[in-house]
Amino acid sequence: MDPGGASPRCRLLLAVCWVVAAGTAAEAEVLPPPSNLEYSFIQICTLNWTWSPPENISSSCDLEYSSDIVIGEVPQDKREWSKSRFRVTDMFLNEEMRFKVRSECKHNNASKPSRWVETSLPPKGIPGTAAVDLSCVWHNLEYMVCTWRPGENASSDTNYTLFYWFDGLKKHKKCSNYSVHQGIFGCIFNLTFPKVTNTYPAISILIRDDSEEIRPVCASKNPTTLVKPATPRQVTLSKINDEIHVEWSQSDTFPKNCLFYEVEYHNGDLDTAPIIKVENTSMSIPSVDPNSKYTFKVRANPKPECYSSKLYSDWSEEKSIGEKTDSTFYVVLIIAIPLIVAVSTIILLVYLKRLKILILPPIPDPREILKRMFGEQNEDSQSCAKDDSLNAYDRLIKEEEIHSLILTETPEYANSEKEN
Ligand SMILES: *[C@@H]1O[C@H](CO)[C@@H](O)[C@H](O)[C@H]1NC(C)=O
Ligand SMILES: *[C@@H]1O[C@H](CO)[C@@H](O)[C@H](O)[C@H]1NC(C)=O
Ligand SMILES: *[C@@H]1O[C@H](CO)[C@@H](O)[C@H](O)[C@H]1NC(C)=O
Ligand SMILES: *[C@@H]1O[C@H](CO)[C@@H](O)[C@H](O)[C@H]1NC(C)=O
Ligand SMILES: *[C@@H]1O[C@H](CO)[C@@H](O)[C@H](O)[C@H]1NC(C)=O
Ligand SMILES: *[C@@H]1O[C@H](CO)[C@@H](O)[C@H](O)[C@H]1NC(C)=O
Ligand SMILES: *[C@@H]1O[C@H](CO)[C@@H](O)[C@H](O)[C@H]1NC(C)=O
Ligand SMILES: *[C@@H]1O[C@H](CO)[C@@H](O)[C@H](O)[C@H]1NC(C)=O
Repeated sequence: MDPGGASPRCRLLLAVCWVVAAGTAAEAEVLPPPSNLEYSFIQICTLNWTWSPPENISSSCDLEYSSDIVIGEVPQDKREWSKSRFRVTDMFLNEEMRFKVRSECKHNNASKPSRWVETSLPPKGIPGTAAVDLSCVWHNLEYMVCTWRPGENASSDTNYTLFYWFDGLKKHKKCSNYSVHQGIFGCIFNLTFPKVTNTYPAISILIRDDSEEIRPVCASKNPTTLVKPATPRQVTLSKINDEIHVEWSQSDTFPKNCLFYEVEYHNGDLDTAPIIKVENTSMSIPSVDPNSKYTFKVRANPKPECYSSKLYSDWSEEKSIGEKTDSTFYVVLIIAIPLIVAVSTIILLVYLKRLKILILPPIPDPREILKRMFGEQNEDSQSCAKDDSLNAYDRLIKEEEIHSLILTETPEYANSEKEN
C-alpha cells in the first residue's frame, strides 16, 4: 500500500531507458542494405552468391557484409563476414536453401546493421525421390566406390546418375561404372592424386536423374576420411629355428610410413588369437611351439598422421605353417588308406594267380580227358539216338583220330622212352 515508494525507482528506470533509446536513435543510423542479390552455379553442387553494395555509405564506415545460410528453415550457423561482394557455398538441392546478407560498419557503433536481404533456391522434383544413404569409400587411394538407395517415392526403374567434381578438375565428370545389387545402387570412379600430395580437395557429388520428377541431391565428401587400404598381398611365412617370420608386400599407392598393419595369429591348440601391430611389412614370432600349427592373417590401417580414416583393409587370406596337419588331410587319409589297401590286395591276388599259372602250369589230368571224352560220347549217343549207324560210325572214327592225336602229342615222352 505504498505506491509512492515504487514510483521514483520506476521513473528513474524509465528515464534511463528513454535516454539510452534517444541516444542510440540520435547517433545510430540504420545502414542501407545490399541490393541485387543473385546466385549462379559455378560447379555441380557449388553456388556463387553475388550482390551490389548499398548506396550512400559514408566514407567513415568500414563496410562489411555479413551472410548466413538457412536450409529447410534450420539456420546452419555458417555466419561469415567479408568485404567481398560474393560468397561461394555448397548447394543443398534436396531442401530449400535460403541465403541472406546485410551490410555492417565495422568498429562503428554509430550505425546499425541494415536489414537482411534474402533469396532462396527452392528444391526441384517430387519430395522423397532423391537418392538417400549416400556413402563413399576411397579404395587404396585409387578409386571411389559410392553407394545409395533410391528415395521411397522414386520408381524402381529410376536411373540415377552420379556426377563428381573437385578443385583441380576443369569440368565435372560423370560416373559410368554402375551396379545395382539388392536395391542398392553403386558407382565406381577412378580418383588418384600425385603421391606427394597429402591434402586432398573435397569431392562434390551430385546424384540426379534426367527426369524432372526425381529430386537431385548434392553431397560434399572429404576423401581423407574415406581411405580404405587394399588387402595386404603376398603374405609369406617361413620358419627358422623355432622362429616364424611373416612378410607381405608393400603398398605401391600409399606414401611411405602412412600405413600400419595388424597381424593376427592363431596357434592351432589355443583359442586366443593375439593381434600384433607393426609399422613394418614384416614381423617375427620367436620361440614358437615346434609341434603346433600357426595360422596368420594381415590387414592394413591408415595412419592417423596421414589420414583421418578409421577404415581397415580386409583381412588377407589365412596362411599356415607348422607340423600339425589339418583335419581335411586326416579325412583324406582315413578314406585313402583302406582304399589303397583294398586295391593293392586285388592287384596282388590277380598277380599271384598269374604267377601260379606260370610256375605251376595245370597238369592235364588223364581221367578228366577220358571223362570228357566218354561223357561227350554218351551225351552224343543219347541226344542223337535217332541218328543212323553210319553217322555214329563216322563219329567213332573221328574220335579215334583225336585219341591218336592225343597220343602223338607226347613225343618227348616217346623220345625219352627210346633213349632209355
Ligand atoms: C563469384 O562471382 C563474382 C562476381 O561475378 C566473381 O568476381 C567471383 O570470382 C566469383 N567467384 C568464383 C569462385 O567464381
Ligand atoms: C543517396 O544520396 C543522394 C545525394 O547525396 C540522394 O539523391 C539519393 O536519394 C540517396 N539515395 C539513397 C538510397 O538514400
Ligand atoms: C563502441 O562499443 C565499444 C564496446 O562495444 C566501445 O568500446 C566503444 O567505445 C564504442 N564506440 C563508440 C563510438 O561508441
Ligand atoms: C512420399 O510421397 C508422399 C505423398 O506424396 C508424401 O506424403 C511423403 O512425405 C513422401 N515421402 C518423403 C520421404 O518425402
Ligand atoms: C532407365 O533405363 C532403362 C534402360 O536404359 C529404361 O528402360 C528405363 O525406362 C529407364 N527408367 C526411367 C525411369 O526412365
Ligand atoms: C567397373 O567396375 C568393376 C568392378 O565392379 C571393375 O572390375 C571394372 O574394371 C570397372 N570398369 C572400368 C572401366 O573401370
Ligand atoms: C581407371 O583406372 C584403371 C587403371 O588405373 C583403368 O584401367 C580404367 O580404365 C580406368 N577407368 C576409367 C573409367 O577411366
Ligand atoms: C622394421 O623393423 C625392424 C626391427 O623391428 C627395424 O630395425 C627396422 O628399422 C624397421 N623398418 C622400418 C622401415 O620401419
